[in-house]
Amino acid sequence: MPLIVAIDGPAASGKSSVAELLAQHLGVPFLNSGAMYRAVALACQRASVDLDDPLAAGEVAAGLELDFDSSGALLVGGEIWDVGGEEVGELASRVAQHGPVRHAMVARQRILGRHHGCVAEGRDIGTVVFPEAPLKVFLMASPGVRAMRRAEQEGHPERASEYEQELRERDRRDRERSIAPLRPAAGALELNSDDLTLEQVVASILGAL
Ligand code: C5P
Repeated sequence: MPLIVAIDGPAASGKSSVAELLAQHLGVPFLNSGAMYRAVALACQRASVDLDDPLAAGEVAAGLELDFDSSGALLVGGEIWDVGGEEVGELASRVAQHGPVRHAMVARQRILGRHHGCVAEGRDIGTVVFPEAPLKVFLMASPGVRAMRRAEQEGHPERASEYEQELRERDRRDRERSIAPLRPAAGALELNSDDLTLEQVVASILGAL
């Protein structure tokens, strides 16, 4: 069976950077599942579909053709979509609460990930999408550190406290939802990256493989 590493954790805990670098080290694709929920939210907006309507959002999700290019960028219907930004993350966490949306995304993630193996990151990768993954990681960092990293990434270091509020609210929604809530998978390696560099986090994961 191809190698799968599952990385979950709260918003802006560094999952994407860690997963991307780890995937390069291991020579397998990087699967950014958050980008897929972000694309569903943007597609709903473009089609003027109510993000809070589970069936309508589920229909949009089921109709999306999603893939990743070799650099790990998300392709929607063959086109690269920019799905970044905290605002889109907030919209994504609303559509991600719906069963029909999750059903459509999990099916695609399994097809994409099982073919060549992957390092996949998200909220439910170890608990729902790939519970059979031989290594599951739960990556955390304190809210203040995550907000500062996100603010710097987005070029607005002065907005760290605003981002902290937004991240806390998004995490609360992701933890408290009834379907696939954010939590560590059984047996997950729990890492706090507050005092670790990206390379140190990747080295710890490689050491656990
Ligand atoms: O990881 P990222 O910030 O891009 O994820 C955006 C949102 O998508 C999350 O806040 C969460 O609500 C949702 N998500 C999810 N399950 C995943 C990945 C992301 O519910 N596997």
